[in-house]
Amino acid sequence: MTIIVTGGAGFIGSNFIFYELTKHPQDRIVCLDSLTYAGNLSTLSPVMDNPQFRFVKDDITDRTAVDRLFEEEKPDIIVNFAAETHVDRSIEDPEAFLKANILGTCALMDACRKYGIKRYHQVSTDEVYGDLPLDRPDLFFTEQTPLHTSSPYSSSKASADLLVLAYHRTYNLPVSISRCSNNYGPYQFPEKLIPLMIANALADKPLPVYGKGENVRDWLYVDDHCKAIDLIIREGKEGEVYNVGGHNEKRNIDIVKIILKELGKPESLITYVTDRKGHDMRYAIDPAKIHHDLGWLPETHFEEGIKKTIQWYLSHRDWWETIISGEYQDYYEKMYGNR
Ligand code: NAD
Ligand code: TYD
Repeated sequence: MTIIVTGGAGFIGSNFIFYELTKHPQDRIVCLDSLTYAGNLSTLSPVMDNPQFRFVKDDITDRTAVDRLFEEEKPDIIVNFAAETHVDRSIEDPEAFLKANILGTCALMDACRKYGIKRYHQVSTDEVYGDLPLDRPDLFFTEQTPLHTSSPYSSSKASADLLVLAYHRTYNLPVSISRCSNNYGPYQFPEKLIPLMIANALADKPLPVYGKGENVRDWLYVDDHCKAIDLIIREGKEGEVYNVGGHNEKRNIDIVKIILKELGKPESLITYVTDRKGHDMRYAIDPAKIHHDLGWLPETHFEEGIKKTIQWYLSHRDWWETIISGEYQDYYEKMYGNR
């Protein structure tokens, strides 16, 4: 089987490629990635020489390039990770998100219609459901929760999800969608909460916590997400949406304190900064459907996963220090300079 993995030079896509090449060594994996600021080819160096792997640098919105790749590879499955993914950047520049996340999804699915495929899988997010109040811990997102977005990022992801479901109904395209909670683990770009706090703590720089740090996210170790997607593309039903989450809710401030403790750094590094505009309060997934239908359960406990993640950042300083020395410096100054 040939699987095109878009966005495979990013955080979850690269972890998914490693997972697939190990779990299904008979399958061919083709990574399509335009290498935006968030894509890093060095991440894929461990698999570059694997005969079952091919890397192609192109943009998913480039229909000529996408069609050419489909003609060359005749893929069975497409897993679309490629996206602009950072909420704060979407608040600064929404248009880039609409282009990559909506038009990119459309271009990929049009190629699927033209050439025929067994499955188009859209990697989506729990952020399409909006947020839940902090004082209702009994509420969770199910697949039936109405889409109700807050940021340009989540709006672009929800729009893409609607388009995917429309292609199923209108053209009978064999699609599936997974909506996952916040991931953490190796190779996450240091603009996101956990790697940003690790990098700043190691440099004894202030740890910028938005608002009061009371916002809650439902953290899932990246390998558990990869396992869920692998199950959905092989055993999941066409036209279905699957929520993926770990029942692992934590307040941002508690995550930051765990990281500081693990690194032996003082809590005096914590700095409360101006809140994110439209900041979602709480995300919490009910993963009952994927558990019941496909037998999926998260395997990595947070206490173990966060230790592994911190260890990874400690032993892969080259990877992230290179990243934070380039364009990231300008981004950091713009976003945090006067916050
Ligand atoms: P990331 O930002 O680390 O990586 C995105 C990758 O996509 C990069 O390699 C980038 O170069 C590539 N890309 C962006 N635009 C492209 C385009 N137009 N054409 C080709 N490649 C392009 O993202 P991530 O955190 O790994 O997220 C992957 C997917 O999972 C996204 O669709 C995201 O919405 C979804 N998701 C992420 C999380 C999370 O916690 N990180 C949670 C739920 C869902
Ligand atoms: P993030 O990693 O950007 O993921 P998302 O916004 O998609 O959930 O942020 C996770 C949480 O951490 C979110 O509530 C915003 C907060 N946060 C901070 O408090 N400080 C920071 O510097 C960043 C990047 C995020």
